[in-house]
Amino acid sequence: MVFTKLIIAGTTGYLAGHASRAILASTKPKFDVTILTRVDSGKAVAFIPGARVVPVDYNDHNGLVKTVAGADAILSFIPGPSSKSIDRLLLKAAQEAGVRRIFPSEYTLDILHPAAITVLDSGDHYFAGCSLPFIGAAIIAVLQMDEEKTKNKRISITKVRATMNQIVDIYEELLGTKFQRAQITSQEFLNKRNADLAAGNAFAALLDGIIVGEFNGCGAGDLVDGLAFDGDGLLNIKRKTLKELTTEALKKIGTI
Ligand SMILES: NC(=O)c1ccc[n+]([C@@H]2O[C@H](COP(=O)([O-])OP(=O)(O)OC[C@H]3O[C@@H](n4cnc5c(N)ncnc54)[C@H](OP(=O)(O)O)[C@@H]3O)[C@@H](O)[C@H]2O)c1
Repeated sequence: MVFTKLIIAGTTGYLAGHASRAILASTKPKFDVTILTRVDSGKAVAFIPGARVVPVDYNDHNGLVKTVAGADAILSFIPGPSSKSIDRLLLKAAQEAGVRRIFPSEYTLDILHPAAITVLDSGDHYFAGCSLPFIGAAIIAVLQMDEEKTKNKRISITKVRATMNQIVDIYEELLGTKFQRAQITSQEFLNKRNADLAAGNAFAALLDGIIVGEFNGCGAGDLVDGLAFDGDGLLNIKRKTLKELTTEALKKIGTI
């Protein structure tokens, strides 16, 4: 059964802005959307056409249960570090309120990949990527898919696969100029991560770890199977080549 009555955690931002816009613009299916915003964010409550925006205290379990009751699914678009605790609070509330599905805010590389992190970089390791509109369209497809096929699954979605060198090659081709390719090794990044950790910069250390896991060829950031994702025919966006995407990006900033 399609998940149509949705609770979205997070109003604006990098992913929430794009994914919520795609969900609210969808007419087939049409979604009933309630968006949660932090009661103590210090900002005025956002007006988002087509959605109800409800201020919540994520730590108020009973209040959260009442707010999510009756929803089919909860989609969390809360930023990485805070989502680690808030997604658990949403899950507890969802379980008590009988919400059928929660999509945690894990839009990232394969966080369970067991690879060691000692590979030296060459610029030739493949990694996978998604544009924000592609993530929005994929979420809409997943909401409509057979529930059993997506239950308790990590879903790989990939728009394009590339290596660092391929990206630089395309920039050079489109701009007609040579780029200097500075080499950096995974070990240098790991040293930086360890220094960030020692200095108490946990978020910077997290980003360093993500960069290594994504780009060192270990496979955690190379979701090859995601290229085959089509939401059982429900994905309504076309994949583009790396060259098409690079051309679009360069046009957007007026470089070509
Ligand atoms: N940003 C990136 O570069 C990036 C890259 C790859 C993947 N991602 C993934 O995309 C997902 C969303 O990240 P994002 O960067 O889009 O988030 P974001 O823009 O920083 O925040 C999204 C929304 O979450 C709410 N929020 C912010 N801080 C919060 C907190 N401390 N507690 C509770 N709610 C909070 C805010 O809504 P209210 O103010 O209305 O409460 C905000 O509008 C994550 O899974 C992240 O890992 C992000």
